[in-house]
Amino acid sequence: MRHLIDIRDLTHAEILSLLDLADDIAARREDYREACRYKKLATLFFEPSTRTRLSFEAAMMELGGNVLGFSEAASSSASKGESVADTVRVVGCYADIIAMRHPKEGAPLAASLHSTVPIINAGDGGHNHPTQTLTDLMTIRREKGSLNNFTIGLCGDLKFGRTVHSLIAALTRCEGVRFVCISPEELRLPGYVRQDVLEKAGAEYAEVRGLAEVMPELDVLYMTRVQRERFFNEEDYLRLKDSYILTPAKLAGAKAELSILHPLPRVNEIDTAIDADPRACYFRQTLCGKFVRMALILTLLKEAGK
Ligand code: CP
Repeated sequence: MRHLIDIRDLTHAEILSLLDLADDIAARREDYREACRYKKLATLFFEPSTRTRLSFEAAMMELGGNVLGFSEAASSSASKGESVADTVRVVGCYADIIAMRHPKEGAPLAASLHSTVPIINAGDGGHNHPTQTLTDLMTIRREKGSLNNFTIGLCGDLKFGRTVHSLIAALTRCEGVRFVCISPEELRLPGYVRQDVLEKAGAEYAEVRGLAEVMPELDVLYMTRVQRERFFNEEDYLRLKDSYILTPAKLAGAKAELSILHPLPRVNEIDTAIDADPRACYFRQTLCGKFVRMALILTLLKEAGK
């Protein structure tokens, strides 16, 4: 049974095939309208979401399938103490594929060990978010024309920002990608990403505190929210939450062809005045999320023989 728990569960060639399929779906939506007829996707969300859950559900609906699930742990039997292992054993009797978000790192992996249907990690704690990475890669490839030879600035909460961890893992397999990691000292990348991913891959990377000083060198700027829900105390969150606020004035030194991405939700790290700037890609990025999830559902169901 093939699951997607970590972006590295896919080879680079498989990722490129998924992105090609997502592009084809976006271009020829009518041709995929019946592709998952009579199939069911369960969305098991133990943690809040807007984009990931709704884009998964829209994806399955656009493929002609059906969806079921829950959007908070409180409305499931997890609130009575049921384990994720038992939950997926049960849901596998009702659905052909499961997308799971959970606040605990590793919960989707634990679920996958007990599931009879494919499990997709829709975000686990501060760890990984592989389908956001497919979304980000599709966006970068569309905006830049390639996944190779560019400098990306990753800015904000690099410690708890699971989208950043998965994106770095995927981009280290591309050619000529240079990473500039911009964060306060307390929110630097975890050691396991810096050492086990960036350094192991021999990637060129720098860690800096200030955004302005590196802005002119960036081809892609990936802004992130400070993850309030992962902090142990409110005082630290309040001190760090406005470390970076991107404003039109701060873009003065940026390249004309810079692409600004954000996995969203945004709190206030990007001034809304930037939304009208053609370099702001984040709403185009959310649309890519639906197409990559359609491609992923189709591919995993096909591999599972469903
Ligand atoms: N990008 C993302 O994961 O957004 P949601 O939390 O709204 O799903």
